Amino acid sequence: MPAFVVEHLDPELGPWSTLEYACIARESHAHGARFLLSSVPAKLQMPAELAATQGLEVEQRSVENIFAKDKVCLLDPSAQVELSPEDGDHFEVFLFGGILGDDPPRDRTSELRKKGYVGRRLGPKQMTTDTAVRVTRMVVQEKVPLEQIPYVDYPELHINAHERTEMPFRYVIDARGQPIMPDGMVDLIKKDADKGVGDLF
Ligand SMILES: C[S@@+](CC[C@H](N)C(=O)[O-])C[C@H]1O[C@@H](n2cnc3c(N)ncnc32)[C@H](O)[C@@H]1O
Repeated sequence: MPAFVVEHLDPELGPWSTLEYACIARESHAHGARFLLSSVPAKLQMPAELAATQGLEVEQRSVENIFAKDKVCLLDPSAQVELSPEDGDHFEVFLFGGILGDDPPRDRTSELRKKGYVGRRLGPKQMTTDTAVRVTRMVVQEKVPLEQIPYVDYPELHINAHERTEMPFRYVIDARGQPIMPDGMVDLIKKDADKGVGDLF
């Protein structure tokens, strides 16, 4: 079974990250995979609802102090090679940047790239962290080729009768054709609609 590791790279852990990390923990647990949130500063107060989520392993150590480098694959939007089902046979650990999504992307995944991990891309579009973990799990555990996963790019959310917000990311869609988002995310987006979505994830 693979381990999914999100290296938390922000000093804080806000409501958007809380919902994404809780979603990753639940889905990983349901699929028999480990989920580690690494590099969590000792002083960081974990939100209670996240701390209580089944399947979450919180680590103060950073990823290089937990796993041998050759077992780790970094999911990197700038990698030259796309993730394939065979990567699930070669790597035991899949590493993601615990970074707020931004538009345009600022390439903060480079902070992990510098550590020298082998990198794989999940296609050309930026995904939210929970989407990136979901897609990786589908490819390496369920052996679905990347190009066969059903996606929607930049979906619009209806905030109210008059307002819509475009989400600047690629999402996996469910059987009804709707983008899969963490529980509570749509309500949070509606609540925060006035702030703009460029740096909220
Ligand atoms: C919200 S994205 C952040 C990307 C960000 N804008 C940056 O500065 O790199 C969080 C993480 O999801 C993963 N990710 C998202 N889209 C990806 C893609 N198309 N290919 C590979 N990894 C991706 C990466 O591990 C990335 O660090």
